[in-house]
Amino acid sequence: MYLLIIGPPGAGKGTQAEMLCKKYNISQLATGDILRKNVNEETYLGKLAKSYMSAGKLVPDELMITMIKEEILDPKYSNGFILDGFPRNLSQADALCDLLNERDIFLEKVFVLIVPNEIIIERLSGRRICRSCNRTYHVKYNPPPNNGECDCGKSDIFQRDDDKVDTVVHRLDVYDKQTSPLIEYYRKKNKVVEIDGTQDLKKVFEIITDSLK
Ligand code: AP5
Repeated sequence: MYLLIIGPPGAGKGTQAEMLCKKYNISQLATGDILRKNVNEETYLGKLAKSYMSAGKLVPDELMITMIKEEILDPKYSNGFILDGFPRNLSQADALCDLLNERDIFLEKVFVLIVPNEIIIERLSGRRICRSCNRTYHVKYNPPPNNGECDCGKSDIFQRDDDKVDTVVHRLDVYDKQTSPLIEYYRKKNKVVEIDGTQDLKKVFEIITDSLK
């Protein structure tokens, strides 16, 4: 099963993608996570991407398209994937379309999470992430268990640099201008399922899974 999830920063893409991977035994292909790993490991890609990411800007298309072409070859995606964070503009969407056609992969659905900006800002300022397993929490809605220790057993929970309010506002602007046109792009392909992402995360998950029955 091949899926795509779109939405503004903090809409819950990563949260839902993680739940979908468990249910359908597929893998999450999250470009933001791959980039952050490269930044932490100070790879060539990570050094190039770092300044764009911390400013809330998109990393240049040529880097992202090269990265996705290599990543998609990983055997862990052979059972299916959910794309989270790619594509982020129309030129990435065209590149993805070519890549999927070459591999005879058919995108089943494109989920679009809709969440107003003021809720996004509250969510992202409360978001915490486990550096070891990448699991996402929210201090109020989905707090880390065991006094700040992640379920994976490590106590390495941190806040992302780009979750500062000013950077979040810029990321929202980038989403409106560059990413939101993708909704119409995939609507024309009859793939889109729009979901009110302000609902409880279990309810959002139920709507997504019902649409896949
Ligand atoms: P990326 O990591 O993809 O960030 P993003 O799209 O901005 O999305 P987030 O990960 O911030 O949010 P999310 O929607 O996954 O929300 P989450 O589930 O965590 O990208 C980071 C940067 O990398 C970009 O700015 C760019 O520089 C670069 N980049 C990445 N891909 C690129 C590309 N293709 N091209 C160019 N550059 C690229 O949830 C957020 C919080 O809300 C959590 O705390 C969660 O617990 C909580 N929450 C979730 N759902 C609910 C709910 N229903 N109710 C209440 N709380 C909820």
